[in-house]
Amino acid sequence: MIYMLDTTNIPEIERLFDLYPIDGVTTNPSIIAQEQKPLRRLLRDIRSVIGEEALLHVQPISTKAEDIVHEALEYRDLCRGNYYAKIPVTPQGIKAIQLLKQRGVKVTATAIFTQQQALIAAKAGADFVAPYVNRLDNISSDGIGVVADIMTFINAYDMRTQVLAASFKNVEQVHRVCLLGAHSVTIAPELFESLLYHPLTDRAVWDFYHDGVPYYDEPEIIEHNTEKTE
Ligand code: G3P
Repeated sequence: MIYMLDTTNIPEIERLFDLYPIDGVTTNPSIIAQEQKPLRRLLRDIRSVIGEEALLHVQPISTKAEDIVHEALEYRDLCRGNYYAKIPVTPQGIKAIQLLKQRGVKVTATAIFTQQQALIAAKAGADFVAPYVNRLDNISSDGIGVVADIMTFINAYDMRTQVLAASFKNVEQVHRVCLLGAHSVTIAPELFESLLYHPLTDRAVWDFYHDGVPYYDEPEIIEHNTEKTE
């Protein structure tokens, strides 16, 4: 399972990468706009925080295949390391995916709302396909069902494409795509932290602390612990 953060907020990326086993960062033009900073500066800052091995997904804004490719190659050179071009599944996008794969660029096909969009992108060579779970649920469709179908045909056709489930608004949606064996998820920082949170955990930790602290503070216990670690 690959966990990615769907954000370009540098303080949040820094804080969460320090705490959690996160594998990468996904971006798109709308997420970039939230920071109100120039794209190239943001990308450089993100890479310096997450390191070269972490996945960094960047989405070109061009709409014609050749322009998408040109832009994606520029971001590859800028981002270095484990870079993915994130390409929407328009007709020009599918063409761009094939051109980028011919040039050895890793690609995530994005803005996927149907099973057949994912299948065509996978056949075009996409390394990941990104179905938008919550946006499907919002139109009274079935985001989890779409992910399930995509997983079924990836396995049935023995494709090497992986599912990067995206667009989540609650823990249950994330849990359900994990149950399906989705290879990866990308999640906004606040929701990512909700995956770990439970009030009974906080209560248990509070009780452990208050029960134990008078005794743990005794000098002999501290000495014993020191001996063990030497
Ligand atoms: O990575 C895709 C994602 O950013 C879409 O999420 O929350 O805007 O539906 P959302």
